[in-house]
Amino acid sequence: MNNNTPKTYRADDICPRPDKPVSQTTQPMAPAIYPTSVWMCNDTHQAEQLLAGELDGYVYQRVGHPNADAFGEKVAQLHGAERVAVTSSGMASLSLAVLSHLAPGDQVVVSNQLYGQSLMLLTQELVRLGIQSTLVDTCDLAATRAAMTEATKMLVVETIGNPRLHVADIASLAEIAHQGNARLLVDNTFATPVLCRPLTLGADLVLESVSKMMNGHSDVMLGVLCGRASDFARVPAVLSAWGLSSSPFDAWLAARGLTTMHLRVERACETALQVAQLLQQSSKVEQVDYPGLAEHPRHALANCQFGNRYGSIVTFRLAGGRTAADAFIAATDRIPFCPSLGEATTTLSHPESTSHRGLTPEQRETLGISGGTIRLSIGLESSEYVLDALGDKLAGI
Ligand SMILES: Cc1ncc(COP(=O)(O)O)c(C=O)c1O
Repeated sequence: MNNNTPKTYRADDICPRPDKPVSQTTQPMAPAIYPTSVWMCNDTHQAEQLLAGELDGYVYQRVGHPNADAFGEKVAQLHGAERVAVTSSGMASLSLAVLSHLAPGDQVVVSNQLYGQSLMLLTQELVRLGIQSTLVDTCDLAATRAAMTEATKMLVVETIGNPRLHVADIASLAEIAHQGNARLLVDNTFATPVLCRPLTLGADLVLESVSKMMNGHSDVMLGVLCGRASDFARVPAVLSAWGLSSSPFDAWLAARGLTTMHLRVERACETALQVAQLLQQSSKVEQVDYPGLAEHPRHALANCQFGNRYGSIVTFRLAGGRTAADAFIAATDRIPFCPSLGEATTTLSHPESTSHRGLTPEQRETLGISGGTIRLSIGLESSEYVLDALGDKLAGI
């Protein structure tokens, strides 16, 4: 046989071999996706150094991967954070924050206006780990101060509360947390970094459900936790050990979504203000919550904290209660009933039957959530289209 003839292998010796990286003289505009679950090491020495964190590099996807790092780097710049951890969901970011910073015997002071699952995690799940929680209306600074004890290690609020859209006074809450020995953790999902950068106002940790407006295309489940390097000492180990890390494909999609976030948020904010004003004029609506309305109790704070934008969520209460809400939801398919938010499409949700169904009727009443409460998430259609679709819906009840 001629020595130059390429050696032939059997298919089962070829197919399982790793592909060789493509060598390239030019760089692609679009980033690559690295779905690999594991990376090849040169030798035992290198493997040990990588796994000990003494050498920068990737070994195993659960510990870290380039798509999370690329996305996280941009988020760090947006939030002015020294460190960002990219997680499998917004809830995973909350889990990461509490598992990294709390221990049995600690207490958390929790805003009573949080997303229902966050409330469940902080008030019910943490008890099983020996961590107590106290619910408080964090708009009431005196009550918040009074709820803090020596055992309080964390104060948890949302920048814009769910679903009544109360705005947290982040600088004052940070001061209250720091007077004790606590960190302020802010869920910034409803605001996004376009409206608010809580770290610059004194917060210690910020989380975002990237599944919402930051990605904005209803096709990603992801979260981020942002903070200072000194608050991130335990974060990488907790992320990996509890298996909270992200998928490369979702991180890649989220990085793509992020390229238009500023435009999407600005557009949705403009339409949301017009929607709130329209709803105020309807005889079928008895209450409209939107921080952009002069009547909103936190309007002045929203103005200075967010720079005259007020977010893409509008909550309102129909006078006819649950019956009216059911009729409203059924009236047209131009605004789909979709129990999430931050989509490109304008959607609506019904807190009593979805996000806040885990609360008792008394708890819902305290928060001002009734069967007639509807939460709108304004999308990217023209404002004329959204106002018209809403007008149709209101006419249909
Ligand atoms: C304000 C807020 N925070 C956190 C979450 C949880 O995010 P994820 O669904 O990405 O886990 C949600 C989900 O709806 C939310 O609305």
